[in-house]
Amino acid sequence: MDGNGRWAKERNLPRVAGHRAGVKTVKTIVQTAIETGIPYLTLYAFSQENWKRPKEEVSLLMELLDYFIDHEIRSLKKEGVSFRTIGHIEALPPHTLEKVRQAVASTAENRKLILTIALNYGARTEILDAVRKLLREAEQNPAGGNGSHPLDEQKFSSCLYTAGVPDPDLLIRTSGEMRLSNFLLWQLSYSEIYITRKYWPDFGKADFLKAIREYARRERRFGDVRAL
Ligand code: IPE
Ligand code: MG
Repeated sequence: MDGNGRWAKERNLPRVAGHRAGVKTVKTIVQTAIETGIPYLTLYAFSQENWKRPKEEVSLLMELLDYFIDHEIRSLKKEGVSFRTIGHIEALPPHTLEKVRQAVASTAENRKLILTIALNYGARTEILDAVRKLLREAEQNPAGGNGSHPLDEQKFSSCLYTAGVPDPDLLIRTSGEMRLSNFLLWQLSYSEIYITRKYWPDFGKADFLKAIREYARRERRFGDVRAL
């Protein structure tokens, strides 16, 4: 979800106004995902690296997360959305953390849309956390006996924060930036990438549907010569 700051700057507004406008886009896109029957949607809201921003901006982003949970979770719950997070959420301000945990717990049974929000997320850290988990398992079970699974891609994936969620079919990046910014490095191996110049606050339902239509036209070969 990129381009909030530039959207605001173009309007001579403070960056925070861009983030506020960005929350509206989140609602629209989540709603469109529900209507379209998309089963998994993952939003990159706050990276590990975003702590470097001025503390006022970081605080406002946290407040917007509070606001989103306070105002949206009840209806998302009714619509069958499971609210989840990836990333080190324990570093969030305590009251925000509490809200996040409640939102996750109260929607845990839902299956219509798995909505994952990346918060204090970094893909390299996620990969290192998976390696640490595997090392701990190996220490506890040195002979590789009882119940241990050989280390293959499936096993490794099951140690990532996204365990149980399929790899993304489509990555959408707004605001024209052409980089991954430490997002889902393992999971995006064969994802289709769609980059739009639109800033996140301007990215609407029609833009999302256009990205999905373009995705539908892509030929995915996964290294083979024929499309799958
Ligand atoms: C939103 O856009 C990203 C976050 C919510 C952290 P930016 O804040 O990165 O906007 P630009 O890149 O300055 O335009
Ligand atoms: Mg940015």
